[in-house]
Amino acid sequence: MAFPIIRNRRLRGSAALRNLVRETNVTIHDLIYPIFITHGTGIKDEISSMPGVYHYSLDLLEEELQEIVDLGIQSILVFGVPDHKDAHGSSAYDAHGIVQQATRRIKELHPQLVVIADTCLCQFTDHGHCGVVHFDEQKQRADVLNDESLELLVRTAVSQAEAGADIIAPSNMMDGFVYAIRQGLDEAGYDQIPIMSYSVKFASAFYGPFREAAHSAPQFGDRKTYQMDPANGREALREAQSDVLEGADFLMVKPALAYMDLIRQLRDQFDLPLVAYNVSAEYSMVKAAAMQGWIDERAIIMETMIGFKRAGADLIITYFAKDVARWLRE
Ligand code: PBG
Repeated sequence: MAFPIIRNRRLRGSAALRNLVRETNVTIHDLIYPIFITHGTGIKDEISSMPGVYHYSLDLLEEELQEIVDLGIQSILVFGVPDHKDAHGSSAYDAHGIVQQATRRIKELHPQLVVIADTCLCQFTDHGHCGVVHFDEQKQRADVLNDESLELLVRTAVSQAEAGADIIAPSNMMDGFVYAIRQGLDEAGYDQIPIMSYSVKFASAFYGPFREAAHSAPQFGDRKTYQMDPANGREALREAQSDVLEGADFLMVKPALAYMDLIRQLRDQFDLPLVAYNVSAEYSMVKAAAMQGWIDERAIIMETMIGFKRAGADLIITYFAKDVARWLRE
């Protein structure tokens, strides 16, 4: 009788053997948990398309933060929902804006918690775009102006650093944003604040639930002139390359699940810490199926997290962070 030459099953025979040869692990330190903060008092509103994720007003933040800290999560990504919006997104760089207030409060309560501030204008502009919009009469179309937007993004980043943010995470996809923000932070004395760039960010339908959560959907048009075309992988490498040259401290791929190839390519080509953003619709889809009883939620989530790590991500921004933290403890 001829025996198989290679027996890969030999190393799968028991849980202990499988533990011994496991190549990838998810740890609590890999996780970044996004939170949404709003004005007002007594608000803890569930985001309807993201069950288990809430808007919190500042006064109710304490309880949420305590839970996060007790679970061992050490970093959070802060999104603010402002009470007023205008054409230039002025509440994004207001010293008393919602993100700035929240950041101060968080650092007061938990100085050791790493606060990552999302730096963008779309939640703060009345038109919902990530920069300054100019209507070109001749072309009869609205453009998002690049360099004019950079100025406002720099102001936003500096005001977030002033409020105590530990990391600045610009998600606006204007050209030159990393360099501009680096210069702005350095000039303001924040040369030690790292930039976590949303380097490779696609114009994606997977942000749908987030835009409901952050009230940040564009009021006209779409983001395709600044966010990337999902078809383009080589261009993703150019985006990452420019961020490296401009001084980014972290690179990111967003969304994550449909872009695992790019997580791997960025890992192979660049040495910076790499972040996968497991975005809102990736969360909602799993939640919806789990609520129907169609999938094993825990197994699906853990398999997904391992997948991000195996693809090459060092860090994972995920709305599942609290669940994952809980399961890692068991
Ligand atoms: C802001 C921003 C967005 C997300 C993170 N930062 C929305 C967008 O670009 O439209 C999406 C996050 C998610 O879907 O979970 N620009």
